[in-house]
Amino acid sequence: MSSAAKDTFYITTPIYYASSPPHVGSAYTTVIADVIARWHRIHDRKTYLLTGVDEHGARQETAAKAAGMSPKEFVDSVAPHYTELWSRLGISNDDFIRTTEERHKIGVGPFMEKLRDAGDIYVAPYEGWYCERCEEFKTDDEIVDGNCPIHGRPVERLREDNYYFRLSKYNDALLELYTNSPGFLQPQRAYNEMYALLKQGLIDQPVSRPTVEWGIPLPWDPKHVIYVWIEALTNYITAIGYVSDPERFARIWPADVHLMAKEIVRHHAVVWPAMLMSVGLPLPKRVFAHGWLMAGGEKISKSGRGITDISPHELIETFGVDGYRFHFVRAVSFGGDGNFSLEDMQARYNAELANDIGNLASRTLAMIDRYFDGVVPQAEISEAPEETLRATIAAADPAADALFADLKVTDAVAQVWEIVRQANRYLVEREPWKLAREEDNRPLVAGVLAVAAEALTALAALLSPVMPVAMRELWSRLGYEGEPRLGAQAPSGNRIRVGEALFPRIEA
Ligand code: ME8
Ligand code: MG
Repeated sequence: MSSAAKDTFYITTPIYYASSPPHVGSAYTTVIADVIARWHRIHDRKTYLLTGVDEHGARQETAAKAAGMSPKEFVDSVAPHYTELWSRLGISNDDFIRTTEERHKIGVGPFMEKLRDAGDIYVAPYEGWYCERCEEFKTDDEIVDGNCPIHGRPVERLREDNYYFRLSKYNDALLELYTNSPGFLQPQRAYNEMYALLKQGLIDQPVSRPTVEWGIPLPWDPKHVIYVWIEALTNYITAIGYVSDPERFARIWPADVHLMAKEIVRHHAVVWPAMLMSVGLPLPKRVFAHGWLMAGGEKISKSGRGITDISPHELIETFGVDGYRFHFVRAVSFGGDGNFSLEDMQARYNAELANDIGNLASRTLAMIDRYFDGVVPQAEISEAPEETLRATIAAADPAADALFADLKVTDAVAQVWEIVRQANRYLVEREPWKLAREEDNRPLVAGVLAVAAEALTALAALLSPVMPVAMRELWSRLGYEGEPRLGAQAPSGNRIRVGEALFPRIEA
C-alpha cells in the first residue's frame, strides 16, 4: 500500500476511437476539459488532464482491414492525428494514453482478476448471429433476410461461452449512490435517465469477446479478449499508474470529473462505478455527460453525418486557436445540445472578440500610448462609475470559480464576460477621448485609463483558460512578464505595447 494522499484535481475526456481522425465533436469535449483544467491551474490547484485514444476491438480491426493494414499499423497511423490537433488547439493535457501501451496492458489483467476474485465474473453461453466477415455478432434487428447487413452474406448461428460481470449485483449499491450523492451524475437529464435504468433493474454485462483477436486477453482464459468497452474504461486508472505506479495513483485517483457526451453515460455512470465497487477502489466524484453538437439537425459524428466535411483545422485557420475555443465554450450552453453553423461562429467572433474585447483592448492601449507615452497612469479617481466597474472585476473570479466547481462552464465564462461589458459601458460613460481635449482633465483621464487597464489585466488572467494565446499576448502588451496570473499588481507604471488587432475582423 502507498502512503501518498490524493492532492490532484483529476479530469478526463473519453478516449476517442482511433478508427478515424478527430472531428469537431471530439474536439468539443477536449477543449472544454482543457478550459476547466486551465481554470484550476490558474488557481494554483494541482491538476491532471488526461485524454487519449481507444485502440482495440472489432471496430479498429475492421477499419484496419479496410485500410489494408495490420491493426497496430492502422492505430499508429491514426493516433498522431489526435496529438497534432490537441497541440494545435493549445490543449494542455498532462498525458495522452493509448490503450496499446504497456502501462495500460499491465493494469488491465490484474483489474480483471480482481473482479473475478470478488466472485463477480461467471461464464455463460452466448448465443447469436455471427458474420465471419465482420467477426461480429448481429442482433435480430440488424439482419436482413438472414444476411449480414454489411456484407450481404448469410450469418451463422453461434453459441459460445462468454464471461459476464455481475452488474446486477450492484444495482442496489448504485441506487444508493445516486440517492445519497445526486451530484455524482450531471446534468439532471443524464441523472434521470440513468436513475430510471437502475429502477428498471440491470442485467449482467459481457466482458469478453471470444471472436475478436485485436485486444487484451483475459489473464485466466487467453482465448477470450476483454470486451473493448470494459478495457477502455480502465484507462482512467491505468494511465495514472494503477499497478505501474501505486504512489502516483494514490495522489491522483479518484477522478474529480469524467467528461463525455450523453451517448456513453451508461458505461461511465453505471458500469464503471460498479466495476470499481467490485474491486474496492474509490469512485469518481463526478460524471458529466454533456449534449451533442449538431449540424443541420444531425449529430456531428465520425460516421459521415453532420459537418464532418468541416475539419477543426479549417476552423482554426479561419478563427485562430482562441476564436475556435471561445466559440464552443460560449455558443453552446455546456450540458445541452447545441447547433453549429459557420455563420454563427463568424457573427459571434466579430461581435464579441473583434468588437467587444478587441476594441476595449485597442482603445485603452492606444489612449495610454497617446496621452501617457505608453505608461499606465496611476488611478486617482474612485467615483460611482469606477466603483461599479471595480465591483464587477472583484466579483468575477469568486462567482466564476463557484460556477466552474459546478461545471457550469458557459455561465462561468459569461460571468467573466461581465467585465468586458461593464468596462465598455464605463468608457462610453467617461469618454476619456473627449476629456483628453482639455489639459485640465488630465488627472481624470489618467484615472479612467488606469481603471480600464485594471479591467484588461483581470480579463487577461480570467480568460486565459479559454483563450490562452491571445490572453498571453494581451498580458504582455499590458507590460507584464510570463503567463497571465490572478492577483497580479495593478498595471499602473507598466509600459504597454499597442500592437495589431488581437482579433482581426473576419469578413465572409
Ligand atoms: O465513444 N457533440 O469514442 P468516440 C459533442 N471510445 N461531443 C461529441 C460529439 C458531438 N457531436 N461527437 C463526439 C467512444 N463527441 C469510446 C469512448 S471512453 C472509456 C471510450 C465526443 O470516438 C463526446 O465526448 O465515439 C463523445 O462522448 C465522444 O466524443 C465519443 O468518442
Ligand atoms: Mg461514438
